[in-house]
Amino acid sequence: MYICLEGIDGSGKSTQIELLEKWLKEMGHTVEKVVEPTSSPVGILIREMLQEPQATDSHFQKVLALLFAADRMLLMDKIQQEESQNKIIISDRCFYSSMVYQSPSSWINEINKYIRKPDLVLLLDIDVDTAVSRCQGQDQFEKKSFLKEVRSKYLEIAKKHDFFVINANTGINMVHKNIKKVVAPHLGICDTGIL
Ligand SMILES: Nc1ncnc2c1ncn2[C@@H]1O[C@H](COP(=O)(O)OP(=O)(O)O)[C@@H](O)[C@H]1O
Ligand SMILES: [Mg+2]
Repeated sequence: MYICLEGIDGSGKSTQIELLEKWLKEMGHTVEKVVEPTSSPVGILIREMLQEPQATDSHFQKVLALLFAADRMLLMDKIQQEESQNKIIISDRCFYSSMVYQSPSSWINEINKYIRKPDLVLLLDIDVDTAVSRCQGQDQFEKKSFLKEVRSKYLEIAKKHDFFVINANTGINMVHKNIKKVVAPHLGICDTGIL
């Protein structure tokens, strides 16, 4: 089982993936946590490039799209191995991040054509102002308008690809509880301990 948490920065992915990992382990599952970009040489390059001031420019985003696809391709081997050992893979971002941050979508699909899509995607949906204030309190108009576009693309593809949309504006425990409610039935976990 390959589960992915998606959402803009500040939506709580890192926070929630830790809680999800802890809970799944308590439930007796073997869990492997992955993060995109990964710690491969390509992933390290992506992290560096994301710090550049022009990171949101459309040409630059195309370069990033290619690097993300390469980094993800390297990750697929690991995922395949972990799955063959019956591990649950929980991923902080996946292919769908490329679909919302980069374009055009037909090209993104093409360069990610050999990428395994997750079995379950949970979108942590959050108001952009709240997400930005959770990060570093940055208030750049350009950044916010970019993130607003990304958020609406997320909501658009969420419908198309049957994501579970979680309201991430609420407190950490409430978000965690809602994530557990979605995940539990997919793993045959009785949800009496969740409510
Ligand atoms: N539900 C929440 N309510 C308030 N603050 C939160 C919540 N979830 C996460 N945070 C805080 O917001 C910041 C960003 O969360 P993080 O999990 O790093 O998001 P992401 O990985 O999606 O960028 C962190 O400081 C985290 O402690
Ligand atoms: Mg994070």
